[in-house]
Amino acid sequence: MIVGVLRETVAGETRVALTARAARGLVEAGVEIRVQAGAGEASGIADADYEEAGAAIAADASTLLEAAELLVKVQPPTPEEIAAIPEGRALVCTLAPLSDPERIRALAERNVTAFALELMPRITVAQSMDVLSAMSTVTGYQAVLVAATALPKFFPLLMTAAGTIKPARVLVLGAGVAGLQAIATARRLGAVVEAFDVRAAVKEQVESLGARFVEQPDAEDAEDAGGYAKEQTADQLEAQRRLLGERIAEADVVICTALVPGRRAPVLMTEDQVKAMKPGSVVVDLAAGQGGNCEVTRAGEIVDAHGVQVHGPVNLAAAKPVDASNMFATNVANYLSHLIADGQLVLDLENELTSGPLVAHQGNVVNEAVKAALEA
Ligand code: NAI
Repeated sequence: MIVGVLRETVAGETRVALTARAARGLVEAGVEIRVQAGAGEASGIADADYEEAGAAIAADASTLLEAAELLVKVQPPTPEEIAAIPEGRALVCTLAPLSDPERIRALAERNVTAFALELMPRITVAQSMDVLSAMSTVTGYQAVLVAATALPKFFPLLMTAAGTIKPARVLVLGAGVAGLQAIATARRLGAVVEAFDVRAAVKEQVESLGARFVEQPDAEDAEDAGGYAKEQTADQLEAQRRLLGERIAEADVVICTALVPGRRAPVLMTEDQVKAMKPGSVVVDLAAGQGGNCEVTRAGEIVDAHGVQVHGPVNLAAAKPVDASNMFATNVANYLSHLIADGQLVLDLENELTSGPLVAHQGNVVNEAVKAALEA
């Protein structure tokens, strides 16, 4: 089994799906690794590092695609990249399967056996393979640094000879993996932090990080069987926006992280609520790629709305390529160790670690949620 590591092509992407360190572990387990020249460069990994780890370098994508039976990548392949994959190969990658199901159809038509890393089941044994969690850790941290840099005031309480400076107030919307990391980071910087979520289990986690949980009286727990939030009704969202109005107006920084898998991100902040914030306040909307939690967010842009800076980053993980790549690669290597036995790809469809992420196989789209998205 030859595993191929493709160089990323999306502008601004700095991560690599397999680091030299992760490659070494797989080589020691008997897997042959080929890496496209320069694939690790933006993460500080030279081709020589891969060679030293026991991997071979392929001069370009077409040489790599010809040799490798299983390909790994960070960003979903473009239509051109899909067209270049020889039929019958396997692919382990993020694929945005529910927001872009046509890509999965294209992979199936190419007879690629494709695994979408986003569909890793949320079960204990899969935690070490869960790229969504790993990347949310990076983006939650980085979002706070972006906000702290853009905010025209300090985060911590400072008592100086030049006067006492009040701490910044940070509101975190959505307290999943990214939100909890944002809370922890903002607390480390000394901010006063509040957070809101629709899953009841989160309250204790928020409080254990030293933040206040904004509670919605009489709201029902919105956690589904998979650990994710259920989509809220229009009335529920309206009630949430009412609840948050005052909290938003008092905040210097709002970090938005609320998501519902396969759906548009819930709108939790209206333009009027942005307008009510103090000039110079900052919103970092990590849900920008899914439509944003804030009404004025524009994906990939920084908008000045009524004196408030609203950031809509789409790939903050790329700002920390060394650790982001290490974490991503650890997840990928753990998943490959599950998929490969005795040098062969083993497709045990009874095992949910295999069947959960598998979206295309033998020319067909095989995931029910993706099929439903294609029919919608
Ligand atoms: P996510 O990225 O899908 O969503 C982020 C947060 O937004 C969630 O906490 C969600 O409840 C919240 N949210 C959705 N709609 C909202 C609304 N209208 N208002 C406010 N908040 C809203 O979720 P994430 O961070 O990927 O994971 C959610 C949970 O899944 C984790 O907290 C954890 O309990 C569980 N999990 C389990 C894993 C495992 O067992 N392998 C791995 C990772 C997470």
